[in-house]
Amino acid sequence: MNMPKPDLYDYIFSDTEISQDAAVLDVGCYNSKALCYMKDRYKLSGTLIGIDKNAKHFEDSAAQLAEGIRLVEMNASEKLDFPDNAFDFIFHKDALECFPDISGHISELCRVLKPNGQIVCVHRDWETVVCNGSNKKLINKAIYGYANFLQANWMDACDGWMGRRLFGLFNKTKMFESSIDCYNDIGTEFIPETRGYGYINSMNSFIGPTGFLTQEEYDELITDVAASYDNGMYLFSAPFYIYKGTKIA
Ligand SMILES: C[S@@+](CC[C@H](N)C(=O)[O-])C[C@H]1O[C@@H](n2cnc3c(N)ncnc32)[C@H](O)[C@@H]1O
Repeated sequence: MNMPKPDLYDYIFSDTEISQDAAVLDVGCYNSKALCYMKDRYKLSGTLIGIDKNAKHFEDSAAQLAEGIRLVEMNASEKLDFPDNAFDFIFHKDALECFPDISGHISELCRVLKPNGQIVCVHRDWETVVCNGSNKKLINKAIYGYANFLQANWMDACDGWMGRRLFGLFNKTKMFESSIDCYNDIGTEFIPETRGYGYINSMNSFIGPTGFLTQEEYDELITDVAASYDNGMYLFSAPFYIYKGTKIA
């Protein structure tokens, strides 16, 4: 049996202090789950802004109900529509790979962050996802395909190795005091509501001529992984790299 371990967000923020009146920005905020988490954890009452280039993602957002969180449709690949030194804290999760000019984007993040302000950038290393089953070739094909598939509606770029690149991309700028950590999301149950189950089943979005799996391969993938669970051999594991940087004053 697995030992109980902290939830991803509890782990990410376990050694991070954010003052109650901090101005906070979440880049690529999607449904603003992280902003709601931070607001609740730190009792935040300052400016809380989530930006995403696709406002459609805000529709089922808990922030619609959470007072004080502002969600703004903005393409963060361009110059950010905020003044210099506007934020005390920036959160950025699983979005960096979508930016075609990552160095330019990091400069922008630095510009809008106050001196001594903190950025937490989290990214999965999609090619390092591990899923057990018996059909190695097919599982490898699915994991590689998922990691390197440019999803046309919301990605301008993709990089299945982004997790392992995070530290270097920020640290080489010499604009931040940097550290890196890793949270491994590991599961032994192939059931709804688990990350592994969601991940494998979401491969159905990539069936067909524009995807990387045929219907037969997808069906075989589900059957194979489900069989590994039934015979006690299932394991899913995915690393989230967690970069923390403080803007050098
Ligand atoms: C994989 S989702 C991650 C969402 C959320 N941060 C999370 O971890 O649950 C990536 C998000 O980044 C957004 N995104 C991608 N490129 C963007 C850009 N240039 N400007 C703003 N948001 C962007 C997408 O629309 C999407 O909501």
